Amino acid sequence: MRSKIAQACALAALVGLGGNVAAAPFGNAADLEDAARLWKVLQQERLVGPGMINSVPYQGQHPHGAILETLDKTITVGGHRGTVIVKRNYGGEGVSKAAVADDAARYLGAVTVMFKREAGYDEENRDWFWVKYKPDGSPDTNPKGMALAGRVAKGAAQGCIACHQGAPGGDYVFNNDRFR
Ligand code: HEC
Repeated sequence: MRSKIAQACALAALVGLGGNVAAAPFGNAADLEDAARLWKVLQQERLVGPGMINSVPYQGQHPHGAILETLDKTITVGGHRGTVIVKRNYGGEGVSKAAVADDAARYLGAVTVMFKREAGYDEENRDWFWVKYKPDGSPDTNPKGMALAGRVAKGAAQGCIACHQGAPGGDYVFNNDRFR
């Protein structure tokens, strides 16, 4: 009897877990593929990677790095053309605007990206794809181990979408209103 209950519990846990994974709005296999494909194009466009275009670093604000660079461009990924906004987040000991200008790669902590997907990708949130990359191009993870790629973290009180929902102009973009 006891083992039957244990089995039932284990089964319920499994089904429950499977259900959650399938329902997660980010961090699943398709999101990881999308993130990898996007990173390749970002490299080709020289928005990230060893050959990346430099801009003038500026003083950042929470939760992005102490020093930031932000660039945007229209790119094509897997046949879809859309705006991408790339934010390079710099930090670490001795970080300053001048230090980043001299040696960006040394202080790069993360690359946070918004990519405008096809209509219907995420209607309620202006169809943005969100990803936080580590400097090597692999997606960073949250404390639960979920990759920060996709509709991050749709429906949650905190995270990319929740915070960017408050950006002026209703376009989820803080710096400008060009992408409404
Ligand atoms: C607590 C609030 C908050 C969270 C969470 C947050 N951001 Fe931001 N984000 C900002 C603010 C504020 C700016 C403008 C900062 C600046 O450039 O000085 C910004 C700017 C950006 C930009 C440049 C476009 C713009 O809005 O100006 C990108 C791209 C970006 N964030 C991506 C992300 C991604 C991806 C995540 C999740 C992994 C994320 N952000 C989480 C507050 C947040």
